Order: sequence, then structure tokens, then C-alpha cells
Amino acid sequence: MRLRWLKLLCVVAGLAVSAVFYGHYYTSLVTSGSSLQAGQGPYAFFRRLDDIFHTPNIQTQQERGGDKKAEVTLTKLTTETKVHPSPACPTSLRLRVQNDIYFRKRFNFDVPLLMWDSANTGDTRTKLSQRPVPYGWKDIPDEDVVSTLMLLNDSANHGLFDWQTPKGCISCAVVGNGGILNGSRKGKEIDQHDYVFRLNGAVIKGFEEDVGIKTSFYGFTVNTMKNSLIAYYDLGFTDTPKGQGIRYIFIPSDLRDYVMLRSSILGVTVPSGVDKGDKPSAYYGPEATPRKFKLLHPDFLLYTRDSFLKSEILKSQYAHLYMPSTGGLMLLTALHSCDQVDAYGFITDNFMNFSDHYYERQKTPLEFYANHDMLMEKRLWSKLNDRGIMKLYQR
Ligand SMILES: *[C@@H]1O[C@H](CO)[C@@H](O)[C@H](O)[C@H]1NC(C)=O
Ligand SMILES: *[C@@H]1O[C@H](CO)[C@@H](O)[C@H](O)[C@H]1NC(C)=O
Ligand SMILES: *[C@@H]1O[C@H](CO)[C@@H](O)[C@H](O)[C@H]1NC(C)=O
Repeated sequence: MRLRWLKLLCVVAGLAVSAVFYGHYYTSLVTSGSSLQAGQGPYAFFRRLDDIFHTPNIQTQQERGGDKKAEVTLTKLTTETKVHPSPACPTSLRLRVQNDIYFRKRFNFDVPLLMWDSANTGDTRTKLSQRPVPYGWKDIPDEDVVSTLMLLNDSANHGLFDWQTPKGCISCAVVGNGGILNGSRKGKEIDQHDYVFRLNGAVIKGFEEDVGIKTSFYGFTVNTMKNSLIAYYDLGFTDTPKGQGIRYIFIPSDLRDYVMLRSSILGVTVPSGVDKGDKPSAYYGPEATPRKFKLLHPDFLLYTRDSFLKSEILKSQYAHLYMPSTGGLMLLTALHSCDQVDAYGFITDNFMNFSDHYYERQKTPLEFYANHDMLMEKRLWSKLNDRGIMKLYQR
């Protein structure tokens, strides 16, 4: 209870700060675990959002109407899609997507996943500088973007898998932090994947049997990472995942992400802004090198929103806050990179049976925030599972 009040206070403070310093600029609002839910308990808000905005059968309608068009898209996809770096995988997710009448219209493997120095060409730059955050650079000083991107000059910045990739099919586990993992004993299975993605408040110590110990990628916005360290510190999230071989995936949502990323590669204390005085080594370890960092492409963020999670929230007063959740973005990143994806700790139909996170000491209901559409994400994960594109851990 006390934690909740604390969080709420943080939010109110965050709102005030952002109102003063950012105007409509959405940053700090999404921060602080913004408990924008109202009424009695967290469900009141989500019910409101869902009841008012959702048209439950929208997907089925599109599905039915689209058969003819889909065939055309398929031919286009087969000719246009680049050969996967791992042709030795006959069961690749990409092939399954191409054969799926619903998802082949939504996946576009040609959208650039990552941003790096030379990807910032004239056209891209012009387009992005006109688009507001979180999908563009309109509200970010040009020099901050340029000085950050020019540091991403290693070939490792061009692709997710800069290690030697395994032969055959590349398997990925994406580990959300949902309460469903408590007591799951999925740790061994998770660690057997070639790559393991984690995000935000990814507590490992004490939960090794349930969530595993391997981490290949840790994804976050500076905002969500720091909020997780504050909100879940007492529950065991005292440190971000660190160690040889871990790659950090920055989700660019505002200026803070660019400034933190630049400082991390330069190995300097953050010189200005909200995170002024922070030592990046405290979050990403002592070695300062571009190789450790991946920056998601703003076009990828926009595409994931519009193609998979175009929520009705975008028609509401919260439109400017809306973004797929960090977990959602990590899962979509894996779905666009791996041959086999298994999702653990993501929202399922019976989410009410589980705590918000796997590491709470007492069952705490899942919190719904105005900036995400968890019910829409729930339907998407379920559909991806049911149509055999990925496997969603459910119980
Ligand atoms: C990347 O840029 C840094 C700083 O400008 C430079 O020292 C380094 O050699 C460059 N690396 C590559 C691979 O070009
Ligand atoms: C899950 O929740 C449903 C309804 O909320 C309840 O009927 C059921 O007993 C629960 N199952 C478990 C295992 O808690
Ligand atoms: C986690 O699982 C244990 C064992 O099943 C249970 O006793 C505990 O209440 C669960 N924790 C939460 C927060 O649900």
C-alpha cells in the first residue's frame, strides 16, 4: 500500500515537472510508473479505456475482407524479402509469417530495426526531424541526435546478433516480468535459447529456477530503466543486468535516451538534462564502447505501433503518451530478428490469477497505465501464439 502511494506521488511530481519543463512533451509523464488509473484500484482505469475504445472484432473483419489482397502481398513479400542470414532454418518464423493470411499483411521485415551512424542519411534525417518524439526527433536538438549517432559507428551497431550466430535456427526467449513466472520453473528452458531478452525490472537473484540466469539483451528507455530501479529496488531489482556479452537495447523515446547513450559510449558522466550527474557505468558496466549498444530505429517504433498495436488510445486525450510497452517492443524486436520466439512472463487471458510481477511478496493486481494498451497486447500475443508464429507461455 505504501509503495503504491509513493508511486502515485512520484507520478504527480512527474506530471508537474513535465508540465513545467516539457509542455506537451511526453517524457516524464510516462515515467515514474505513471499510475494514471483512477477510481477503486487499478482496474477502474483499464475498464474505462477498454470499454470505451475497443471494438473487439476489428481483427476478424480485416481478416475476412483481405484474402485477395493477401495473395498479392504474399507474392510481393516472397520476392522482396531479403534472404534470412540463417537460410539453414526451414521452420523460420519468416516463412510461417508468409504463410499466415493474417500476419503476412502486418509484418514487414524491410523496416529498419536499428539506427546507427550511416543509417542517418539525408532522407531519413529530414523525415525524422519533422516527426515528434517518441518516433522522431522534432523535439530533440539536432546536435544531440547527430553527436550520438556518429558514435554508433561499429558494425555491431547494424544488427542485433553481432556474435557468431548459431547454425540452423536462431532461438530467442523474451522474458517479461509478469507474475505468471512465479513458480513456473521455466529457468532452464529459458536459458537453453540462443538469445535471452530481458527488460526493465528483470529480477534474477532468487528466481533463477523460474526465469533463468542468461541475459543476451537488456531493453529499456532510460525512463523505464531508472523507474524500475526505484520502484522495484526493495523487491530485488537493485542493479541492471551486467556482464560480458550483454548488449543494451536503447528504445529512443526522448532526449534522455540520446544523451545517456552518448555519455555511455564516451564513458563520461551525463553532462546535462534530467539525468545529469549519472554515471553510465553504473547501469551498463565499466567498458565504454559502441559495440555494447543497440539503438532501435524510430521507424521501427512507429511501424510496430501502426502495424500491430494501433490502439484506440490514439484517439483519446492520452494519444501523445501512447507507445507499445517495453516488453511489447522487445518481443516485437525478437519477432523481427529470430527464427523461433518464445515469450515468457507476458500478459495472458488469465492474468488476474497472477501478481503484477513475479517478484512481489504479496499478490498485487496488474497495473494498467494510460500510455500502454495491455489488453490489445494480450490479444496480439495470444493471436501470434494461436497462429503458430511464436509460443506464449501460459498456464
Ligand atoms: C568510431 O568513432 C570513434 C570516435 O570518432 C573512432 O575513434 C573509432 O575509430 C571509430 N570506429 C570505427 C570502427 O570506425
Ligand atoms: C483463476 O481465476 C479464476 C477466475 O478469476 C478462478 O476461477 C480460478 O480458480 C483461478 N485459478 C487459480 C489456479 O487460481
Ligand atoms: C509465488 O508463488 C508462491 C508459491 O506458489 C506463492 O506462495 C506466492 O504467494 C506467490 N507470490 C505471489 C506474489 O503471488
